[in-house]
Amino acid sequence: EQAGKGEYDHFMLKEITEQPTSLAQAIEGRVDPTSGRIALSDFEPGTFDDIDSVQFVACGTSYHAALYGSLALNQAGVQSAALLANEYSVSAPPIDDDTLVIAVTQSGETADTLNALRRARAEGAATLTVTNVVGSTAAREADDALFIRAGPEIGVAATKTFSSQAVMLTLLAQRIAGDLRGASAADLETLLPELESMPGRIETLLDESDADLIAERYRESQSYFFIGRGLGYPVALEGALKFKEITYEHAEGFASGELKHGPLALVTPETPVFAIFTGQEDEKTLKNAEEAQTRGAPVIAVCPDDHPAVAAADEQLAIPETEPDLAGLLANVQLQLVSYYAADLLDRPIDKPRNLAKSVTVE
Ligand code: G6P
Repeated sequence: EQAGKGEYDHFMLKEITEQPTSLAQAIEGRVDPTSGRIALSDFEPGTFDDIDSVQFVACGTSYHAALYGSLALNQAGVQSAALLANEYSVSAPPIDDDTLVIAVTQSGETADTLNALRRARAEGAATLTVTNVVGSTAAREADDALFIRAGPEIGVAATKTFSSQAVMLTLLAQRIAGDLRGASAADLETLLPELESMPGRIETLLDESDADLIAERYRESQSYFFIGRGLGYPVALEGALKFKEITYEHAEGFASGELKHGPLALVTPETPVFAIFTGQEDEKTLKNAEEAQTRGAPVIAVCPDDHPAVAAADEQLAIPETEPDLAGLLANVQLQLVSYYAADLLDRPIDKPRNLAKSVTVE
């Protein structure tokens, strides 16, 4: 096992640092930045012409990636929802043969997700799975499969697969919107080159991250909160999930605007707030973060260097400048590192947290 970890103490850190490579693999050959048009060559032209709504089903980290994809689709003008696969049997929205149901599952073996996929098929939906495992049950059972090509992920806490899922779903959202409504070349002309730059940007972030210092500074805290808006919201949820999975400390993610509707009652000087800035209504998120700060909470802004939040916040975790569609993914890498270093300081069994399994094949 040590051999597989190479120079790293844990698979999780190895997998976090693999993200420049795993993302480059995910994107390779699938986009054409020069034409300003999405390729996503996995699908024939017009594949999604007849779809009128999209439902994502997923669990855990994959659910957060699904939410990311769903918000991207909504922003591109396509009706879509992300649903917890384990709730789907009691609360699925209406399905017909113009519904596309997308199962997002790293392993392709999660029982809850397979059940949701089977139900969708039985009701006549078109189905697609976005997975890391070629030959997995989800890949075999769905009408179509889109592989994220992240390579094997050993750490129970998903890291590189989240990034690859989110990037593939960002591409897929553009592709579906393009098939349905005609591609918005203006958007793609900026998005695609940015996408190609993501591996390099993550490399820079990993080289310069202060996540270890932040983890050390706030190691005695009572709870850890994560807030984000728009595409920063699933990243806030994922930041908190990662933190609780591997540190065993209490952590919660909220939509920035929800903080004042209840969670603010929990905020004290002992509850650091990680605020994620993606370029979508950042001034509102900053206001929400400042409301927490007024109650004594230290605010850690996850944002580019020249962002107005840097002056207002107590700390910054820097992310390279990019498009709002992708900024959350850079923020997520910083948050993965914070969780990792916090868990390491607490001497937790990072790759195999208690009570958790890499793939849950029971309901
Ligand atoms: C388990 C793992 C999580 C994972 C979830 C969904 O609970 O511990 O890390 O996100 O399953 O797994 P999947 O393979 O469907 O993405």
